[in-house]
Amino acid sequence: MAMLVTMTSGAQNEWVTIQNGQLWKTETGDVVQAHAPGVLRVGDRWYMCGEDRSVPFSPDVNLYSSTDLQNWRFENKIIKNGVTTAELGRSRMIERPKLLYNAKTGKYLVWCHYESSNYGASEAACFECDSVNGDYRFVWGGRPLGIKSRDCNIYQDTDGTAYFISTTEENQHLGLFRLSDDYREAVEHTQLFPRQSREAPAIVRMPEGRYFMFSSACSGWAPNQCKMSHSTDLRSGWTPLENTGNVIAYDTQAAAILEIKGTKATTYLYVGDRWQDPSL
Ligand code: GAL
Repeated sequence: MAMLVTMTSGAQNEWVTIQNGQLWKTETGDVVQAHAPGVLRVGDRWYMCGEDRSVPFSPDVNLYSSTDLQNWRFENKIIKNGVTTAELGRSRMIERPKLLYNAKTGKYLVWCHYESSNYGASEAACFECDSVNGDYRFVWGGRPLGIKSRDCNIYQDTDGTAYFISTTEENQHLGLFRLSDDYREAVEHTQLFPRQSREAPAIVRMPEGRYFMFSSACSGWAPNQCKMSHSTDLRSGWTPLENTGNVIAYDTQAAAILEIKGTKATTYLYVGDRWQDPSL
């Protein structure tokens, strides 16, 4: 399936076709390894970090950039598993790395799921860097506010407040963790969707102030029905989950909803992973 989007690329507006369900290649012909991506716009470029699954079960984090979401340039291996956090060797799986920029500190951060091989650790981690494409430093790893935490995402609100959202307490609930002003630690927890076993959360805010959250059920690498809920308050009032897309979310699991502000319209783009196409 192809989708047409129009964006400013160089001096001209041109149509680009984003190919769904295919391996993407970089400018130099290498396969883009950026699974469960986090995407951040900086100036005229989109930066996308994600899991490098060329080492399937202890991924590094790669960073790519693009001006049109179609042509990708490899920037850097921003987190090297077993090197950035040498004390843990390669024993940690870094999953769902998500990029943030903190305007107050001028730092770039990556929040992620920071897991042991049997998912028993149930921890998150935070990394930081002075530039978007530099080598990130380990800031913190553990259970946010002592709460077991797995599949995750981040959400940065229009007022600059940032949140880490994760599946908590053995995949029972979703936890919304407000981050400190420097985005280096979780400071407040609100439990959402109690005992509804949601993961792969992705939040986007409409201009009028309504938040939409897409999420999946917990079925490992196998896709399942995506569900959607909305609210005008991140902490409460979420509507009952309703089905979105087909029963296997078109063979995807949500990673992000991009808000693309164009000259004529704002477009929302669902970004999902095809984990088993045909295998991890
Ligand atoms: C998925 C999750 C992935 C990974 C996988 C492991 O549900 O979204 O990030 O943790 O399970 O089975």
